[in-house]
Amino acid sequence: MSNTPINGFNLERLLARFSEKFGGPESTVQQFFAPGRVNLVGDHTDYTGGYAFPCAIDSGSMLLIRRSQNDQFRFASTNFDMFAQLSKEQINKTYGDNWINYPLGVVDQFVKRGFAIDGIDCLYSGNVPNGAGLSSSASIEVVTAFAINQVFDCGLPLLELVKMAQAAENDFVGMQCGIMDQFAVAMAKRDHALLLNCETLDYRQVPLSLTNHSIVLANTNQRRELNESAYNERVAECARALALLQDHLPIKALGELDVKDLEKHQSLFTDDPIALLRAQHVSSENARVHAAVPALEQGRLDTFGDLMNASHDSLRDCFHVSSEPLDHLVKAARAQSGVLGSRLTGAGFGGCTVNLVEKDHCEDFIANVGKTYQKQTGLTADFYTIAPSCGVQQVHT
Ligand code: GLA
Repeated sequence: MSNTPINGFNLERLLARFSEKFGGPESTVQQFFAPGRVNLVGDHTDYTGGYAFPCAIDSGSMLLIRRSQNDQFRFASTNFDMFAQLSKEQINKTYGDNWINYPLGVVDQFVKRGFAIDGIDCLYSGNVPNGAGLSSSASIEVVTAFAINQVFDCGLPLLELVKMAQAAENDFVGMQCGIMDQFAVAMAKRDHALLLNCETLDYRQVPLSLTNHSIVLANTNQRRELNESAYNERVAECARALALLQDHLPIKALGELDVKDLEKHQSLFTDDPIALLRAQHVSSENARVHAAVPALEQGRLDTFGDLMNASHDSLRDCFHVSSEPLDHLVKAARAQSGVLGSRLTGAGFGGCTVNLVEKDHCEDFIANVGKTYQKQTGLTADFYTIAPSCGVQQVHT
């Protein structure tokens, strides 16, 4: 058995499910795991070439895969009662908003690069809550890319697989996401968060072993609506902001924009106040990442928490990606003792908040925030205390 934890998956049972769905032989089935991620600070910066600071979480997607060599592509999941069987001619398009679009998008990337993918049987099992902003989709994409690379002996480097996973989402699924999720899910290291320059893809693993504090996620369990179109709209607004600034500033990406330079050039935005707000968020969020990482490294966790709070406020007021339930969770969290910081994480529009909480206060935090939240919204929040985990890997039995 692998020396890395399999995060709650029972491989024997999964293998039995695989046989039930696809038949034998089991001997050629291989197993792979990719985690979900939580972003600690630096949201809606990746697609502007800015900075993000995510870590992997200890739940994710397990994939059992076998090459079938019969030009059939078969997908099943233990999370949904469905089974899809597609021929080679049927795999180059999406199927409504079905989750198989993610693996199909990845297969498409291999095909586009000239690899002969001649059929696969895939059983997925996930324990990242869906739609919670914890990158369940990136974990499916990355585990699929990693597994196909291995099973078909394609020899592609991990960074290329990350880019293919992102391209699957951009070009096939149609979500214009940045690279943060796929990068974190692939490259994360246990007990570390990853400081990522989304323009150059340079990154640094930053130790994140908290002694007296925990990272607690709180799931709004709010149904996310308009997520994809509102997200793509933000991407377009940031592009508009960049275009306005580029005539006056030597910047190639909005992520390079300095807070002071933006102040000096505010008048450019008279006709586009929304683009100004978006640029204000991006420039200040990048500055927060640059301040937060040394604060963490020097053990100044209060400062780190303050920056998390400021990040949420900016995502709410300038980027307009928060929601009432998210704001309620954040407000209830900040009212608790032992809470250093609380913010929405990921794309927003629902999903989770990430909270930095003193260990001694975690129990009260979960009980009290849960109660207040329910009273105010009628919704029940779920809470997860996470351990920063490692990235995609093959799992050996
Ligand atoms: C989603 C996207 C990421 C990133 C975050 C916001 O998770 O997939 O690329 O833009 O939102 O930071």
